[in-house]
Amino acid sequence: ASFDLTVRNARIVTATDDFHGDIGIRDGRIVTVAQDLPAGTRDIDAGGKLVFPGGIDSHCHIEQLSSMGVMCADDWHSASVSAAFGGNTTIVPFAAQHKGDSLREVATNYAASAAAKSVIDYSYHLIISDPTEQTIERDLPELIREGITSFKVFMTYDKLKLNDTQLLDVFAVAAREGALPMIHAENNDVILWIARHLIAKGYTAPKYHATSHAPAAENEATNRAIQLASVLDVPILIVHVSTLGGAQAIHSAKALGASVHGETCPHYLLLTAEDLDLPGTEGAKFCCSPPPRDEASQEALWKALKNGVLQLFSSDHAPYRYDESGKIPAGDATTFKQVANGLPGLEVRMPLLFSEGVLKGRISLNEFVALTSTNHAKMYGMHPRKGCIAPGADADLVIWDAECTRTVTHAGLHDAVGYTPYEGRSVTGWPQTVISRGRVVVDGDTLQVAAGSGEFIARGLPAPLREQRKHSPETHFLRSLFSLDKTEQ
Ligand code: URP
Ligand code: ZN
Ligand code: ZN
Ligand code: ZN
Repeated sequence: ASFDLTVRNARIVTATDDFHGDIGIRDGRIVTVAQDLPAGTRDIDAGGKLVFPGGIDSHCHIEQLSSMGVMCADDWHSASVSAAFGGNTTIVPFAAQHKGDSLREVATNYAASAAAKSVIDYSYHLIISDPTEQTIERDLPELIREGITSFKVFMTYDKLKLNDTQLLDVFAVAAREGALPMIHAENNDVILWIARHLIAKGYTAPKYHATSHAPAAENEATNRAIQLASVLDVPILIVHVSTLGGAQAIHSAKALGASVHGETCPHYLLLTAEDLDLPGTEGAKFCCSPPPRDEASQEALWKALKNGVLQLFSSDHAPYRYDESGKIPAGDATTFKQVANGLPGLEVRMPLLFSEGVLKGRISLNEFVALTSTNHAKMYGMHPRKGCIAPGADADLVIWDAECTRTVTHAGLHDAVGYTPYEGRSVTGWPQTVISRGRVVVDGDTLQVAAGSGEFIARGLPAPLREQRKHSPETHFLRSLFSLDKTEQ
């Protein structure tokens, strides 16, 4: 047979197309997409079901220490298995530098763990919290050249945050070396100030986490990040946008020609701050930063996804267990400030968006594929190898059962977190078969591959950095101080 695998009788949906056909696969790559292909060594009949490019979750936390030193519950094995059962074929979590860490060592250790354990393909972003000269002038440029073409920086969390000078420094390096900065945009002082006054008055329950992370903190920092990036006209991505004001800031920057991009996550579309209002410490299960907001914000974010203001839909899977190892701090004088921030969501990201987005008419099938796969591949320099169904691309596919309705329960998921914020929710549309580089990774209820069988994906230039951009004479002069315009005259 000329194919190792033929997926036949498929309704193939990409970010732009929707047609019936067969997919011929050889050596892990798609060779042909056409009607009535010959049988492969192995044949899978999709039975007319939807076939999408495998999901890419480009924002998830795996084997990472929080700023307060709490370890994620998921390692590269449990997280990659959970991701695969959720229809993903590529994950991009974070190798996190804490203050004093060598960025190079952090990356080396993280890569080794991924190589040993991941069941699907992966890359990782860096988190830069200590922008020393060694970090930004040596380690970071080298790592970018090795294919780690994105990094996250924080404007909040005492132990991670960069000040405005440091943000300008890392933006300049990103633009010069060809990497995309991802920004956690919240104003640290606003959050600390509100929290201090809440706690002084005895408002310490988890639900006050949401009160302290006021929308104004996110809106101000989002605007500030955009303005700082505009000094040198550096492309940036604002991650986990949760407010109308954040989406508006991105929208107006884009409308005026800035290369500013945005991401949101399932919890900002489906949960609200009221979900934190539970007895005792139960509300800790819903504490993440930024926090879930209100229904008006949900509506605004759905529109922002629909109209391209936000191009990425990621889980921000941040798996802290609901016990003393994670969400519930030990001791009696504890407050919402000690709760580890983050929600799990790797496995339910695609089903939730399909059920709530596609089936409720909020987004089209093509938009679903763009938001869960194609846009991630482009944004992070993996396209066209990843994120599409076309000859030459990796054979990363998910056969989707659009009629399957399941009630989400933690017991039915494969992560190691021990709870899900979506417990009891009815969701229609789940992966049936997940194929990564032509290997069947998940077949119904069973995992078919071994730990360590995923491959590292060296990434190229993120799409926003591929654009040739025109600058005002002033901006162009400032950019020349940093050698940012190698080819432009
Ligand atoms: O609360 C969250 N989102 N925790 C994970 C880390 C981050 O800021 O993305
Ligand atoms: Zn963040
Ligand atoms: Zn995150
Ligand atoms: Zn220029």
